[in-house]
Amino acid sequence: MPKKQPTANKKARAAARQGGKFTRALASRENGKSRRIAVFGAGYIGLVAGACLAELGHIVVLRDVSSDRIEALSRGEVPFYEPGLAELLQGAKDRLKFTLDAGEALAGAELAYVCVDTPPGPAGDADLSRVWAVIDDVLRAPHLRAVVVKSTVPVGTGARIRQMLDAHGMAAVGYASNPEFTAEGRAVNDFMHPDRVVVGADDEDTFRLIAGLHERVDGPVVRMDVRSAELAKLTANALLMAKISFANEIATLCELTGADVQQVMRAVGMDHRLGVHYLGAGLGWGGSCFPKDSSALKQLAADTGHHLQLLSAVIEVNNLQPRRAIQRLAEEIGGFHGKRIALLGMAFKPGTDDMREAPSIVIASRLLAEGAEVHCWDPLARAAALDPWTSTTRHYTPLEALAGADAAIIVTEWPELRDMDWAQAAASMRAPVLFDGRNLLSPARMRELGFSYLAVGRP
Ligand code: UDX
Repeated sequence: MPKKQPTANKKARAAARQGGKFTRALASRENGKSRRIAVFGAGYIGLVAGACLAELGHIVVLRDVSSDRIEALSRGEVPFYEPGLAELLQGAKDRLKFTLDAGEALAGAELAYVCVDTPPGPAGDADLSRVWAVIDDVLRAPHLRAVVVKSTVPVGTGARIRQMLDAHGMAAVGYASNPEFTAEGRAVNDFMHPDRVVVGADDEDTFRLIAGLHERVDGPVVRMDVRSAELAKLTANALLMAKISFANEIATLCELTGADVQQVMRAVGMDHRLGVHYLGAGLGWGGSCFPKDSSALKQLAADTGHHLQLLSAVIEVNNLQPRRAIQRLAEEIGGFHGKRIALLGMAFKPGTDDMREAPSIVIASRLLAEGAEVHCWDPLARAAALDPWTSTTRHYTPLEALAGADAAIIVTEWPELRDMDWAQAAASMRAPVLFDGRNLLSPARMRELGFSYLAVGRP
């Protein structure tokens, strides 16, 4: 546990917070300068942030604990699919270095960026062990000007890090929370053209330093206190999830009343107060952020003694979506035992190879448990050599997966599925039954082609 904060440190920080004429003059010179930055964690967040910061002209040393990852990056290989990232890493390679050694990353660095993952622990809270391991390294680098946390962390984490810095005689080292709002598949674009860059910093100098790094980024830099920045990230994700789950509940109501959720949400989204985004009904959300962040926010509130009722409902609606789909399809085809089912799409969304918390995992597992033979297709997904995927058959094209199938489910709305030859698909299936879990296709057209066509919230 960090020691109690010494009074001298408080004074040093208060002096730094003053923001008088001298510090302002200094701050104005922060802009546009090339900085030396140590980035900890070469995953989706760290690698994209590191590559983008290098592209912006900074000198970046990326440190990761995985030797496979560091060796691959040093050879010029990108460890996951992210549009534009390979080009960025190549273009900025003179300003980028990869290392396993924390000391090498920190040597001469002005800033340390913490971008390690914070997966859910056994109790559902964010597991911060990787963050603390990086902070242990950072505490050996008193020459730093600031420590910046991009990882999604519970509110209060920054305050704990601040105390640790102070207790180690690093009161002059600034601290900032700089949460990342980028989405996979458009992470590079989101970093360079963000809706906002949130910087939670308690002192003006640190804020100016971080804002200066983003000078060439096309978006406003917003300053707030550290705790608010930490909560802003979790809140934004929770509200996006709430929109999706609400659309999914309305979709169920549409099924019961004969309305069409696509038309309902088109009208709703045209209201500028509500916006068109994240109103897509379907099989629900998955991925590396939403499931873990919703759980972390729920547990964070629970730890304060408050139950976030709305968020709990948002999570429950999402858990139900893939199960409802399976139930509806079972009713349509008279159960799954001995049936061949084609799963079209495995990744948690199109444009990524990420399978984390993908609805396809629940769907494939349920189908196998009901005795179905599962045939999958996905252009990118990296299916782990684990259940349920070891018990399924993977195909190179959707048509191969569909051949001889008793029914098919669109799990991920890959554009290839919109454009493929569905007449040929209908002819090659044992029975042309399609559950369109992403409302990708036109019901009228699919029925014209002879499909028994089921969708989410559409008559
Ligand atoms: C999300 C947030 O968008 C991003 O700001 C945060 O930093 C990380 O989490 P990401 O997980 O990459 O990004 O995916 P996103 O594109 O937001 O989609 C999340 C999930 O919601 C996907 O499973 C997607 O299929 C689902 N979704 C999205 C819907 O079901 N309906 C919609 O209308 C939109």
